[in-house]
Amino acid sequence: MMKGFIFDLDGVLADTAKYHYIAWKQLAAEIDITIDEAFNEQLKGISRQESLERILAYGDKSSEFSASERFEMAERKNQHYVELLEELTPEDALPGVRDFLKAARKHNIPCGIASASKNAPFILDKLAISDYFVGIVDPAALTKGKPDPEIFIKAAQLLAIDPKEAIGFEDAQAGIDGIKACGMYAIGIGEVEQLRGADRSVADLSELSIEELLRL
Ligand code: BG6
Ligand code: MG
Repeated sequence: MMKGFIFDLDGVLADTAKYHYIAWKQLAAEIDITIDEAFNEQLKGISRQESLERILAYGDKSSEFSASERFEMAERKNQHYVELLEELTPEDALPGVRDFLKAARKHNIPCGIASASKNAPFILDKLAISDYFVGIVDPAALTKGKPDPEIFIKAAQLLAIDPKEAIGFEDAQAGIDGIKACGMYAIGIGEVEQLRGADRSVADLSELSIEELLRL
């Protein structure tokens, strides 16, 4: 029996992945690196600082900036990203999200957040769905990012369940890999053909029935 649901945030509960892309594209352009959507796929689920490292490596500029310059660049990207987030409203939750969370509450199934984003609490507030979550893993406390399973194991601990009793929802390959590495059932969200190894794939949460998932 499944006893809990663990959600990634960006690209699963809200379409914020596009804002990360806009903000990174601008930051990259400022240092003469051009990124496109295909490259951006590699940044999904990856921490802010590691995303910057990947962009610098892609532009062959890894050795051009000091640690403090890189920190400042990541801060600048985040300021732009947070400005874009200011426009979010409860209507920006992705299709099916609110109904799914309500149904989980009705069935007393605890929900948790396993997102690499330090902006997760702010986004959940903007979407007006914070109250549906029992726990949010603090990404600053992780020793390894996705695709390591650590964040999903910690999320299961917050829900007081075994990872094998949870369903994980992800839009990124790194996330699906992390979910599967701790024996969780993985549901891929979004452009499904890109996600390898998911147990099931759907465009969004509106395609899923909680009753059916609980029987898995
Ligand atoms: C993940 C996103 O959820 O969070 C990544 O998929 C992002 O693109 C990461 O880099 C960190 O987010 P933030 O908001 O802390 O910069
Ligand atoms: Mg995501």
